[in-house]
Amino acid sequence: MTDTALPPLSAERARHIARAFLPDWPLGNRYHYYYARAKLRSDPLYPGVCAALKGTSAPLLDLGCGLGLLAHALHEEGIAVRYFGVDHDARKIVDARRAALRRGLVDAGFETVDLSRSLPPHRGSVAMLDVLQFFSPGHQQVLVDGMLAMLAPGARLVIRTGLDDGSRRARITRGTDRLSHLLGWMKSAPRHYPDADRLRARFDAAGLHSSFAPLSGDTPFNNWLIVATRD
Ligand SMILES: C[S@@+](CC[C@H](N)C(=O)[O-])C[C@H]1O[C@@H](n2cnc3c(N)ncnc32)[C@H](O)[C@@H]1O
Repeated sequence: MTDTALPPLSAERARHIARAFLPDWPLGNRYHYYYARAKLRSDPLYPGVCAALKGTSAPLLDLGCGLGLLAHALHEEGIAVRYFGVDHDARKIVDARRAALRRGLVDAGFETVDLSRSLPPHRGSVAMLDVLQFFSPGHQQVLVDGMLAMLAPGARLVIRTGLDDGSRRARITRGTDRLSHLLGWMKSAPRHYPDADRLRARFDAAGLHSSFAPLSGDTPFNNWLIVATRD
């Protein structure tokens, strides 16, 4: 299937959002600033997710939110939904809170949660972006079922994930995720990439309408945007 992803953010908009992640003093650590700038500039993820959530008003739970870049992208797009992001990396949550405060995202909250232990209670839309691969097949099912149970009518479930389709892109995705873990950028190592047919069957069984579209843009990865709705 052709990748019809929207382009990533412009350099100017990426820099504008990333500035919220600058350290408090000139010689402070700029890692998250540079990461945010490069990620927003190179990955079509956030424009794709914003397009998927446009027109919704239900509160959004972002599972494995990292620095909460999605909250900033939604704000920039004028998509005014209440946002709550959780991640097990406490350092990211501290920086996510600080950046959201700096940018005046009053409707955004963050908490440290380990998704291998629990899911927070929620009713509304749910996003899980580049996170599913960190869990075993069994726990992925638990998470998917948990997310489906959170969906309110008119709300959306938005997942981006690599898929296990044997492609060269899939191998590059797995290799890069492994490297990110070895270099200490990611606390967890990748465990399993989901199978598209199994996921679709799960959505069908729950009576949801779902769509699968490539969302890699110019990156070499095998990333897909999955959107499921309960009409
Ligand atoms: C590739 S990053 C994606 C971050 C964010 N979703 C985004 O797209 O900007 C994967 C995130 O999943 C988080 N993560 C991995 N395992 C987790 C777990 N067991 N519980 C909560 N978060 C987890 C990582 O800390 C990391 O922030």
